[in-house]
Amino acid sequence: MSASLQPNFKVRNLTLRSNAEEASVYAAHKIADLIKQKQKEGKAAVLGLATGNTPIRIYQELIRLHKSESLSFQNVITFNLDEYYPISTTNNQSYTYFMNQYLFDQIDIDPQNIHIPHTECSIAMVSHYCGDYEAKIAKYGGLDLQLLGIGRNGHIGFNEPGSTLESTTRLVNLHPITRDDAIENFGTLENVPEQAISIGIQTIMKAKMILLMALGARKSEIISKALNSQISSEIPATFLRTLPQVEYILDREAAALI
Ligand code: GLP
Repeated sequence: MSASLQPNFKVRNLTLRSNAEEASVYAAHKIADLIKQKQKEGKAAVLGLATGNTPIRIYQELIRLHKSESLSFQNVITFNLDEYYPISTTNNQSYTYFMNQYLFDQIDIDPQNIHIPHTECSIAMVSHYCGDYEAKIAKYGGLDLQLLGIGRNGHIGFNEPGSTLESTTRLVNLHPITRDDAIENFGTLENVPEQAISIGIQTIMKAKMILLMALGARKSEIISKALNSQISSEIPATFLRTLPQVEYILDREAAALI
C-alpha cells in the first residue's frame, strides 16, 4: 500500500439499515435532498447512476417522490456508469433500456440531460467516444453524487479487478464472475457480452459524494473485503476507503461479516 492510499477510518461512513427497503428509501432521500438543494441554489445536480438489482428500489422511491411529492428532475443531469459493448439501446438487456424502464420514463427529466455510454460505435471509434464521455462529465463540473453497487468480485461500475486508480472511461473486458452473474439476465453465458464501456476509478473518485449500496447476504463477503482487506486494484472497491466523501449504505444481511 503506498503512502497516498491509507484508509481513512475516522471518516469511514457506514449507514446500516435493517432491510433493503429501509436502506433504499434512505439512499433515495439523500439523492432527492441533493436535487432540492441544487434547485434552491439555481444549479444543476449532476448524478452518476448505476444499474443492477441494487438501485431498483431507490429509483422506485424517486419516482414516488416525483409523483406524490412533486420532486422535479428538471435540473438533473445524469451520467450512467457503464454499458455492455456492443449492445443496441433497444436490446432489453441494455442499460439504456433498464434506465428508461426503471427511472427515466417515469420522471420529468429532460432527455437531453441523460447520458449513458452508447456502445453501438465501431471499435475504431471507442477511444474517441470514451474521451468525449469524460469531457462531458468535466464540462458539467464533475459528478455531484455517484451511486454505486458492488460486484461480487469487488468491481464498481465495470471496473474489474486490475483496474487502476488512474483509469478513466474506457473499454474493459468483463471478469468471469461478472459474466457468470449476468447469466440470470442474458439466459446463457454465450449471450453475455465479453466487454463493456465503463467510467474509470479516477472518474468515480472525483465525485463530490459517493453512495455505495449493498443489499443481501450475497454481498456480505465482498463487503467485508471491500471494508477490511488491503487496498489494491485486486478489489477495486477498496480504493474508496481512501476517500472522505464515501458513504456505505448496507442492509443487515450485507453487513453481516464486517
Ligand atoms: C453490474 C453493474 C454494476 C453493479 C453490479 C452489481 O455489474 N455494472 O454497476 O454494481 O452489476 O449488480 P447487482 O446490484 O444486481 O448486484
